[in-house]
Amino acid sequence: MKLITTKDYDSMSKRAATLIASELTINPKLVLGLATGSTVKGLYKYLVSWYKEGYLDFSNIETVNLDEYLGLSPEHEQSYRYFMNHYLFDQTNIDKSKTHVPDGLAINPMKECFRYDKLIENLGGINLQLLGIGHNGHIGFNEPGDAFSKGTSLENLSDLTIKKNSRFFTSIEEVPQRALTMGIQSIMAAEKILLCVSGPDKAPILKETLTGPISPKVPASILQVHRNCTIIADEAALSKM
Ligand code: GLP
Repeated sequence: MKLITTKDYDSMSKRAATLIASELTINPKLVLGLATGSTVKGLYKYLVSWYKEGYLDFSNIETVNLDEYLGLSPEHEQSYRYFMNHYLFDQTNIDKSKTHVPDGLAINPMKECFRYDKLIENLGGINLQLLGIGHNGHIGFNEPGDAFSKGTSLENLSDLTIKKNSRFFTSIEEVPQRALTMGIQSIMAAEKILLCVSGPDKAPILKETLTGPISPKVPASILQVHRNCTIIADEAALSKM
């Protein structure tokens, strides 16, 4: 793992966006794995502004998002499809038909998981996967458990995740209790991984992820053995190291 320390959220965002922009410049047909959450908003802002200034061309990339809440439509403001459209896709020349997010309204979630795995396989795998981290060490929506998940699955969200994510909903009751998420095996199969972490509240879990034992109790700890994983974290997130 390569660890890059930045001063604050903004410099973390700029550094991460620079890394993605370089990958995109080297390979205009990049298969880019994307993430949602407050952590990645800043880096999307940089990518959008560089696109508007004429430095980036997204027209040939394919994107695959990590996860989606079960039961939320693409129009729901808290759905991850909505997030992606709003913060990145609608503001660049990304071809929407080449952007993929699990279908939160799938009538048969198991079939949707299978479809999503097949889709990633047909794309030839992911070149670069962007990740944030949950306070309990989840990546995508792969929650702590007894084993690392393989392909895309339907995951029951932990009480902590529901509580943390309730800040985006009007009440905790509105937070979906299940989500479709790319599996740990699929994430680990990406050629390169970029994990972004910011803020003091993520410091304890970042320490556990980087220095603790590799365990499904802290799903992100498996990144310790990825062949090409870069972590960009700000000083606050590294304050417990
Ligand atoms: C959600 C997403 C994760 C993300 C996490 C952290 O649970 N499923 O992919 O990493 O939130 O979000 P934030 O960046 O807002 O802390």
